[in-house]
Amino acid sequence: MAGRDIEALLDAMTLDEQVSLLAGADFWTTVAVPRLGIPAIKVSDGPNGARGGGSLVGGVKAASFPVGIALGASWNPALVEEIGGALAEEARSKGASVLLAPTVNIQRSAVNGRNFECYSEDPCLTARLAAAYITGLQKGGVGATVKHFAGNESEIQRTTMSSDIGERALREIYLPPFEAAVRTAGTLAVMSSYNRLNGTFTSEHKALLTDLLKEEWGFSGVVMSDWFGSHSTAATVNAGLDLEMPGPTRDRGDKLVEAVRSGEVTVETVRDAARRILRLIERVGGFDRPEIPAERAIDRPEHRALIRRAGAEAIVLLKNDGLLPLDLAGKSVAAIGPNAEAAQIMGGGSAQLNPHYAVSPADGLRPLMSDNQLRSAPGVAANRLMPLISGPFEVDVYGRPDLAGPVAEHQSHPLGEVMWFNEVAPGVRDADFSLRATTRFTPSETAEHVFGLVSIGPSRLMVDGRTVVDIRDGWTPGDNYFECGNREARGSIALDAGRTVDVVVEYRFVQAIALNLKAIRVGVAVPLGDRAFSDAMALARSSDIAIVYAGRSGEWDTEGNDLPGIALPGRQDELIAAVADANPNTVVVLQTGGPVAMPWLDKVRAVIEAWYPGQEAGNAIADVLTGAAEPGGRLPQTFPRRIEDTPVVTGDPRTYPGKDGHVTYGEGVFVGYRHYEKAGVAPLFPFGHGLSYTTFDWSAPTVDQPAFGGDGVVTVRVAVTNTGTRAGTEVVQLYVAPPPGRVSRPARELRAFAKLQLAPGETAEAVLTLDARAFSYFDEERHAFVAEKGRYRLVAAASALDPRGSVEVELTGEIVERVTARLGA
Ligand code: BGC
Repeated sequence: MAGRDIEALLDAMTLDEQVSLLAGADFWTTVAVPRLGIPAIKVSDGPNGARGGGSLVGGVKAASFPVGIALGASWNPALVEEIGGALAEEARSKGASVLLAPTVNIQRSAVNGRNFECYSEDPCLTARLAAAYITGLQKGGVGATVKHFAGNESEIQRTTMSSDIGERALREIYLPPFEAAVRTAGTLAVMSSYNRLNGTFTSEHKALLTDLLKEEWGFSGVVMSDWFGSHSTAATVNAGLDLEMPGPTRDRGDKLVEAVRSGEVTVETVRDAARRILRLIERVGGFDRPEIPAERAIDRPEHRALIRRAGAEAIVLLKNDGLLPLDLAGKSVAAIGPNAEAAQIMGGGSAQLNPHYAVSPADGLRPLMSDNQLRSAPGVAANRLMPLISGPFEVDVYGRPDLAGPVAEHQSHPLGEVMWFNEVAPGVRDADFSLRATTRFTPSETAEHVFGLVSIGPSRLMVDGRTVVDIRDGWTPGDNYFECGNREARGSIALDAGRTVDVVVEYRFVQAIALNLKAIRVGVAVPLGDRAFSDAMALARSSDIAIVYAGRSGEWDTEGNDLPGIALPGRQDELIAAVADANPNTVVVLQTGGPVAMPWLDKVRAVIEAWYPGQEAGNAIADVLTGAAEPGGRLPQTFPRRIEDTPVVTGDPRTYPGKDGHVTYGEGVFVGYRHYEKAGVAPLFPFGHGLSYTTFDWSAPTVDQPAFGGDGVVTVRVAVTNTGTRAGTEVVQLYVAPPPGRVSRPARELRAFAKLQLAPGETAEAVLTLDARAFSYFDEERHAFVAEKGRYRLVAAASALDPRGSVEVELTGEIVERVTARLGA
């Protein structure tokens, strides 16, 4: 309700009531104060859909949109704003008023587990897209929560690690997306990160949360913690962390009331935080919704169409010698590879959701071909964990750690993976419970079967009463479930085709480091061997065209765990090289959440990178392969030849993955293409690269003024003509190259871009504007953004390494923009 008198409401509240607002009620909702008509509101993950309040798996179905890096590859703010609007509808269908999105951390390394969730290695691209996403979402009445503020660029020990970042790198590289979220898009919420920043937990970082965010940037919304990322009472509240999540509170409530009584926290500080919560409730229309609406699954045709279009707009055509688009008429096609029949639609972790459906790449082609034209073979596997057993699981929960006494509750779970965020069953304390979960499994072949078991706490797995995997003794947390679950333990047993067996898991929880998550996961498979490889080769040889669908999955690209490297998992490199030898018309379709090495690149005729494009994955990929859609994407992140070429994973543990609890951002501002240029290292594919099915002519850029004094903007124009016979999209990227100056600066930096959609023969103009910041670096000594006087070259380019023309502008005097907050290491 607009215009509600929030001050009067605050006056009417007791201290206890104000304090009650400053922590969640449960995992996803805030606390209501019914006496004063203050409702609870609900938040939901985010960012590639609205999962709702269930667990990470299962849960009410939701639309699955392209992941962050795919949106980054679209270079299309208008499209991303449209997606924001659709996500507002999705959030509301889950009763949520606030979405925990977007993720705007910078792709610092090539191996961050959440690389897929972030937009880009570049702050300008990230900032524009983040602002567009937030604008679309909030126009739809749902609040955004830009995250993770700040310095969360890796998943290694993320809940304790200190990201040690100099102020210049923060101001130039890591903070601009947050600044745009606040100042341009007016985000209603910000989520602090898990990590420490320069030694202090961000949730306790006053310079970050108050001096910078609330004072310098004028943020009037809510700062919430990442889940379980708030560890103190006075320190977080005084730093400016308004909301402890999730609830119920651990460090606020009575503890905070006591801290106010003892003078550690002032009543004004509590009142300000409560004011921000009330303002948020008002801004998302919460006062008009006394009850949180029930969750619904609404599979909208217009969302299907938008996701399919966005998927194609994000696909990057990396290489093409003319084979693409494919002419399928009368041709036989081999769909080979682990991702041919598996729809890889999203990354792993809190961004997961239960999609309405998922179209695999082969299913995307099937409607276009007859059955005997299209055949598929996996060839090799690419999974990190054994494939999930199908379930359902019948679970007996006990109120004691030793599976004894009466069954406290019986539960049925649809999948072979079960997670509990809250208590497992009413009245059963986490510390006490144990469970026995049973499912039935019918093998389809007679063979040695490998079972995999992951759990957060000791467990064992039995098949027809025989113990196959036993991690009751010596269980330790490893690389699953946000560093709380063990590294998958495996065991094998011979089974007969068609003979159903009982699979039983016994499990006991141990309190994990950071989260209250309880989980078990059972996988099973007969490992693919040489036979599967040679079957794929035979298929490749006997087909006109071979498409290898390779890549990773959300098991690799996942929150809670960084990647081991950028090589394709398993024997996929070997598979691609062998298919290319067997079939002269080989196309590779990659699906990864970030860069990947391609030792076979010279052998294949075409390569596309399709990321994780959401539930329409197979359709979007087929659209691009067949030319029904233009490959609209450009790389938002450099693809290096080798991991050693990246700025971060250099062998020095201090820069990655961190040493003694600290990771030093020693490369400073030389992140992504800024690094490759400085180091003189040629990437495999540069930042901004992506081919089209048509051809374009670029005019020489023009600038509207030869000299710039710092007021207003400089406008650069580039006319682009589609000289081919197909419609196509071109992305005009504008890089600013500074004159030599006092400090070492990147040779050129992206400062503006425009995406043009052009019919055959059509000409359109890219209009690109640059303000004073576009010419500046951050001067740590003067504590200001400074643009030195001199001649700047404005380079219009099709990638960081593909300049098409340039023009100069003279800065007639030094431009200085002083800032107040001090954040440096
Ligand atoms: C993630 C956040 C997410 C939150 C709630 C955390 O593990 O870092 O991005 O919003 O969980 O699921």
